[in-house]
Parts: sequence; structure tokens; C-alpha cells
Amino acid sequence: MQSKLPRVGTTIFTVMSRRAEELGAINLSQGFPDYDAPEDLRELLVAAVRGGHNQYPPMAGIAALREQLALDVARRYQRTVSPEAEVTIVPGATEAIFCAIHATVRPGDEVLVLDPCYDSYEPSIQLAGGRAVHVPLVPPRFAIDWQRVRDAVTPRTRLIITNTPHNPTGTIWSAADLHELEALVEATGIYVIADEVYEHLVYDGARHQSVLRSDALYQRSFAIFSFGKTYQVTGWKTGYCIAPPALSTEFRKVHQFVTFVAVAPIQHALAAFMQLRPEYSAGLPGLFQAKRDLLGTALRATSFRFEPAAGTFFQLLDYRAIADRPDTEFVDWLIREHGVAAIPISVFCDEAPDTRLIRLCFAKRDDTLQRAAARLARL
Ligand SMILES: Cc1ncc(COP(=O)(O)O)c(C=O)c1O
Repeated sequence: MQSKLPRVGTTIFTVMSRRAEELGAINLSQGFPDYDAPEDLRELLVAAVRGGHNQYPPMAGIAALREQLALDVARRYQRTVSPEAEVTIVPGATEAIFCAIHATVRPGDEVLVLDPCYDSYEPSIQLAGGRAVHVPLVPPRFAIDWQRVRDAVTPRTRLIITNTPHNPTGTIWSAADLHELEALVEATGIYVIADEVYEHLVYDGARHQSVLRSDALYQRSFAIFSFGKTYQVTGWKTGYCIAPPALSTEFRKVHQFVTFVAVAPIQHALAAFMQLRPEYSAGLPGLFQAKRDLLGTALRATSFRFEPAAGTFFQLLDYRAIADRPDTEFVDWLIREHGVAAIPISVFCDEAPDTRLIRLCFAKRDDTLQRAAARLARL
């Protein structure tokens, strides 16, 4: 059979996690914690299952969770959204991205993506018959060259996909970036998929620049979030999309034929947790900043060079002082010879950039980070 996605294989994240397990390596590759989710959240899931929440929930999500999210958005971004018309719960941000792309992109449309970027974007665009137009972020700090973005817009451009805080570079947007996006959307009328799954993970007192902060942007945007990242339950694969009513209507038309609903007891557990512990997310920057700093301090004794991540739970490391070989070869050597699994940056790019960078995930126990740093100090 002729593949519809000839360039797609098993993702590097799956490959590296599997190899880490086989080789007994310390796994700093895939973005998930190696410690458990909050105990009361786990108990709430058990209670939801025991309490009989085991049949199809409403297509757009249970009311209690959508109401909690509307409260959260009002509190943190000063935006009033209707839980009924503007909040949709889905099985993970990846599905939300897929649905938002399929709701907007027609065959022949172009979609701007900023490289490096999360690996689901391009295949989802291709399956919708669209074409990803790659605009590279500018190393070493991976800033957005907005002139280049503007130059990439054509009459066929339908959509731009943005991501802040950014995987894999750990950078975050400034208020000026948000204004640039606002101006672009106003000038061109294109839509935005704002991938904000790391919305809580911003450090050093910075503020997350959500599209939800801008009236003009919100009217053209699908803002996408992940409970997996926020509550450290990546395996629960539950996320949500916030979009104005007309966009949410189109989004739901796709969602109802992709999975129809998100898992019912998980929604009940999350709604109860958000109600019981509304302050939980406010503790996340402190928690992860401490992990970033622990890893950073330990890495000062190594030959890696780095700028501390401004957001996400990913740290980029420049290995130029250790080896001058492509990043895919370097991570292979690192896991085989030194027992640390990392992700090469080139897998997030259409064309391998002229950099020597790998990505480490620091959503790990402190002792895991210390053991990994001790191995990296031997290089
Ligand atoms: C930038 C980005 N977007 C989306 C996702 C997917 O989130 P989910 O697990 O909720 O599908 C991830 C997960 O790693 C991510 O890093």
C-alpha cells in the first residue's frame, strides 16, 4: 500500500525510551515525570470509577470540568469564556491539534510552522491535504524572525501554529512576540493554533504570553492545553481546546468523529481536583525551576554549554566542546557509552540546523538528575 505519510516512522521519543529501558540508561529523553502524580488526584480517579462514571460523557466534556476551566481562564488570563460554547475536553493536546488542523485546513492550504517544532504538526497538516511551510527559529536563542514569518505568508496561508513555552528549546515568548502575532493575524486574516501545553512552566518570574490575553487574537485562535503536563499525568492523555464559539463548533465537528469523547472518569477526577486544589498550578513554576536549577548547577561541572531554560521542562545542551558530529550520532553514542538517553534537536526540524544541540527532560526526581549529571561530567 502506498503510504500517506511516507516520511513518518516510529517517533524518536518512543525509540529512545525503549532503548533506555533495554540498556538500563537514565531516561532524560521523553517528556514525562519519573515520579508519580499527586496522590489525591489518583484517589479521585479511583473514586470516579467506583462512583459509576463509566459511560460516555457529553461529547464536548463534562460540565463540571468545563466550568472549572472557564474559572481558571478568567482568573489567570482575565478572559470570560462560555463553558458550553468555548471549552472542549479531548483525549490529549495531540488530538486537539489534529482536530483544529482538520477543522481549518483544506487541500492545497499552507500552514506556517516554526522549526524546531513538535512532531505531530506536519503529519496532521499533510493528512488534511495541506502543506507545512517551515520557518526556522534563529539559533542560538531560537528567537522568531517575524519578518521571515511575514515573508512566508501567501494567499494560500490558512493557519500558523505557535508554541510557547517552547518544546524543544525551552524558550518563551515576550509580550512583543504576542503583538507581532496579533499584527500578522490582523493583516492577513489567518487562523492560529496556539500550542500552550506548558503554560504553567515559566521561570524567573516571567509571564506566559497566551493568545487568551488578546481580544483580537482570541477571535482567530484555537488555544490548546494538556492536563497531562499540568498535573503530571501524561499517561491520562487528556487536554482541552479553548476557542470562540464559531471555531469551537467546527472543532467539535471533527472531534466527535475522531474519538467522540475524552475518558469519563478522568474528567470527573480532574474537575474534583481543580475544585479542591485551585492553587495547585501556581506551585508548578517553583517546583520545576528548582529542578532546572539542580540540573543546571550539576551540569556546570561538565563540558556542555547552555542557557537555563526559560520555560517547559526541557533543557538544551550544546555539546560542541565534546564532539563534532551530528546530533543523532551523538545521542546514540551517549546512550550506548554513557547510559544517558537524550533527544537530538534535528528530529524537530525539516532541515537539520547547523547546531550541536540535544534536549534533556528535567521533569525527573532529584536523584535521577544528579545521577545523570554525574555521568555527563565524565565526558
Ligand atoms: C509542544 C507539545 N504539544 C503537544 C504535546 C502533546 O500533549 P498531549 O500528551 O496532551 O497530547 C506535547 C507533548 O509532549 C508537546 O510537547
